[in-house]
Amino acid sequence: MRILMVCLGNICRSPIAEGILQHKIDQKRLNWIVDSAGTSGWHDGESPDVRAIKCCKNHGIDITRQISRKLTAKDFIDFDVILAMDKNNVTDILKVCPDPLYASKVKLAMSYSHESEVSVPDPYYDDRFELVYEMLDKSLDHFIVKGLAVVHQGC
Ligand code: 4NP
Repeated sequence: MRILMVCLGNICRSPIAEGILQHKIDQKRLNWIVDSAGTSGWHDGESPDVRAIKCCKNHGIDITRQISRKLTAKDFIDFDVILAMDKNNVTDILKVCPDPLYASKVKLAMSYSHESEVSVPDPYYDDRFELVYEMLDKSLDHFIVKGLAVVHQGC
């Protein structure tokens, strides 16, 4: 399974989501591919925000090698699932979708959570990186369980 995490800038939420999921699939020895991108392209070529790096480091996850990039139409072909951090991201992601057939690949990252939140709040201005980490950590555990069930069904 190939999973793409997407937010606005690809320097805060989606790099954290990529780091968490990569860490989990490494631990479970799953042969999945994870990447992340932003809808804006505003931070193309940049490393994750230093606060995102620090937050992940506190949880034993190194995201320093990630580089921000803009979402492209090709991503809809290259990835099976595109996980958006909030509803605005979903709207912006679908503007890039090259064929309506691929639209169902786009899901909210929090849709797998057993909590009521639908969006991961943007920590760029309010610094709530730890909250973002905790929300994604829980939801991505459920995403893996669901993903494994789908993979097994397909066998
Ligand atoms: P992200 O956060 O979408 O979680 O990466 C943001 C990063 C940068 C900006 C906004 C949100 N910005 O305005 O540059």
